[in-house]
Amino acid sequence: VDLSDYKVESDIALATTLPSRWYTSPEFLEEERRRIFHRSWQYVGSLHWLTKPGDHFSVEIQGEPVVITRDKAGTLRALSNVCRHRAGPLADGHGCSPSLQCKYHGWTYDLDGRLRGAPEFEGVRNWDKGNVRQPEFHLETWGPLIFVNLEADCRPLAETLGAIPQETEAMGIDPAHYRFVFRRDYVIQCNWKVYVDNYQEGYHLPIAHPQLFREVDYSRYSVENAAHYSRARAPVRAAQGTAPRQYGEAAGTEALYYWIFPNLMINVYPDNLSTNLIVPLDHQTTLTSFEWFVPKDSPIGAGLPPPTYWPLSRPFKEPEGTIPEDLQKTIAFSHQVQVEDIFLCESVQRALRSRTYDKGRLSAKRENGVHHFHKLVHQALSAN
Ligand code: FES
Ligand SMILES: [Fe+2]
Repeated sequence: VDLSDYKVESDIALATTLPSRWYTSPEFLEEERRRIFHRSWQYVGSLHWLTKPGDHFSVEIQGEPVVITRDKAGTLRALSNVCRHRAGPLADGHGCSPSLQCKYHGWTYDLDGRLRGAPEFEGVRNWDKGNVRQPEFHLETWGPLIFVNLEADCRPLAETLGAIPQETEAMGIDPAHYRFVFRRDYVIQCNWKVYVDNYQEGYHLPIAHPQLFREVDYSRYSVENAAHYSRARAPVRAAQGTAPRQYGEAAGTEALYYWIFPNLMINVYPDNLSTNLIVPLDHQTTLTSFEWFVPKDSPIGAGLPPPTYWPLSRPFKEPEGTIPEDLQKTIAFSHQVQVEDIFLCESVQRALRSRTYDKGRLSAKRENGVHHFHKLVHQALSAN
């Protein structure tokens, strides 16, 4: 794609936003799939789904079918979910079995991807069962989160996460001891970058999120950029007057909000951790999946029936009455903010097709996160 209509400025005081075309044309998403989503660490699901040997689940990374497996020795793998025979699926959703059997003609594979059986394949020449093996992708974990990178010579996950593990540790949080409790999805009629732009600044708080604005100390709201992520700090404000407050008691505590390139947000609170994965369904439709995690010994959600697996690549409809009672306030508050953001993102997406608008300028004080994101997108699209 032609990138010449965006001029990279390292100084935000000179920078513009990305041109409208970058948000409205399907060719950009095609290029982003190849150069951004297929080359970065992608969050695919949590260890919640892989507790026993033989546990496995299927997921797609922007069109690439992958199956995540745990073998008897406990090794986790990300294998291609495309059968070497005629491209059938080895797994559909979650399962637990000592091997993977293709849903088409029943070829069976070990959990490390080696072909074990191909029924009625005697007499086929120049083909050796012993050489057939499912391609494997890089897999790493941080706490309960499983990440996959499709790029053969990718850099380690630790490089992407930078100081995030140390910073959460300094908050007294060890994500290794967290468990998944709840998921809520939203499908939004906007390009994925419109949603990320919106997340990357607090500039819209006073106008767009009046309730949230009351909760945080806007004058101290700040965004700092690191190589592969941004971190927002939003100190909780001391209670004022009698207006109902979400985090009234928690004044003085600080939450950490990370955006990790390209499409994962992680919100770290003293008592829970939540992720928000941004998945482009097409160039103007975006799935955002929120998942909540709590400390393993926390009673939150303990009485609920175990959730059924649903891939993060497809919209999930939460069953009624499954919100853990102790999380209801947190989820309702996040829902309110999300509804306000959806209104803005969808309006912006329609408006980016306006004949009167192409790009705008950025607040040097408040939109450094947006500027960082735009530079990373440009850099990834211009890399060979
Ligand atoms: S496609 Fe898998 S067995 Fe035929
Ligand atoms: Fe917002």
